[in-house]
Amino acid sequence: MIPVCIPTIKGNELKYVTDCINTNWISSSGKYVDLFEQGFSNYCNVKHGIACSNGTVALHLALESLGITKNNEVIMPNFTMISTAFSIIYTGAKPVLVDSEENTWNIDVNKIEEKITDKTKAIMVMHTYGHPVDMDPILKIAKNNNLYVIEDAAEAHGAEYKDKKVGNLSDVAAFSFYSNKILTTGEGGMVLTNNDKVAEKAKLLRNVAFTTPRFVHHEIGFNYRLTNLQAALGVAQLENIEEYVSARINNASKYTKLIREIEGITTPPKASWAKNVYWMYGIILDSKLNINRDELMKLMYQEGVETRPFFIPMHHQPLFKKNDSRFPDINGEFPVSEKLGYNGLYLPSSSSLTNQEIEFVVDKLKYCIKKLSR
Ligand SMILES: Cc1ncc(COP(=O)(O)O)c(C=O)c1O
Repeated sequence: MIPVCIPTIKGNELKYVTDCINTNWISSSGKYVDLFEQGFSNYCNVKHGIACSNGTVALHLALESLGITKNNEVIMPNFTMISTAFSIIYTGAKPVLVDSEENTWNIDVNKIEEKITDKTKAIMVMHTYGHPVDMDPILKIAKNNNLYVIEDAAEAHGAEYKDKKVGNLSDVAAFSFYSNKILTTGEGGMVLTNNDKVAEKAKLLRNVAFTTPRFVHHEIGFNYRLTNLQAALGVAQLENIEEYVSARINNASKYTKLIREIEGITTPPKASWAKNVYWMYGIILDSKLNINRDELMKLMYQEGVETRPFFIPMHHQPLFKKNDSRFPDINGEFPVSEKLGYNGLYLPSSSSLTNQEIEFVVDKLKYCIKKLSR
């Protein structure tokens, strides 16, 4: 079976984790947390990095550090992983859903302004599957309306917009280092910001809002700390990040070359201004193929290829159908999110994929499509 994604652990991971154990620094203090924060923020050219437990809480910490709170609204893409919405809900603010655009699979900038109200405080964008968002028009809307911009960069390590790394395109950005991410710490996340005050706040809130004197607290904090053990993995991974990003891009170009021969399949987007890092290699089945996506995935699995469906759009989440004032308004038309969500799937995308594996996956894709087309 070719798995949809496995981590690549081939550098100094064991050495650095062993060092943590040998020196007894296994909690969230220790040199690897600092090294990881400095290393990853340098890699993205951002002033501050605040490591935390995972990408979901990185988003929450980002919002809290900007002061997003109840009675605020935050605009976000309808086509995303649910953590984007949850992080907003955790603050007491309300997510406001915007459809995606066909060109990049990211939030449709032309549909943002109509959703702005006097409660709107921020726009949270998400760089879908490693393709950066077209930021300039979004930053312009934000400036004109006095809104913050937050990047959910969980999926886009190393991606670039007009030669600038994601994570450095907004007020504050959040990354995930879950095991399927290009750079992993097992579980982990990081907030990046160039704003000194936001960074200070994020550090404070991450650590249960401890101040001096100790055990005196002025705000509601969270234990969102990353351990030195996990950061040790991250420091080792960072030593090879360029290689892992290049591998994702090279694998994608091999896939695209082979898949272009198959009629009725849309390959991942790549805007002229974008460096797409293809965190996951996603394809969309055109309706003219007349193939059920889930049946295709099942057959591929039987043939030895693991795949995953695209996200179910937020407006179709059973949770958000409940009548609860915390949840986003799910009424309205979201045709692009639906097209992506129900016709998209991603193929095995590990950095370590070999040419033979890529060819095997595409052969099986052709075979399964042919079989289901009959
Ligand atoms: C777009 C997006 N945001 C947030 C997250 C949450 O990250 P984590 O799983 O580390 O909590 C993910 C995770 O895959 C994601 O894809």
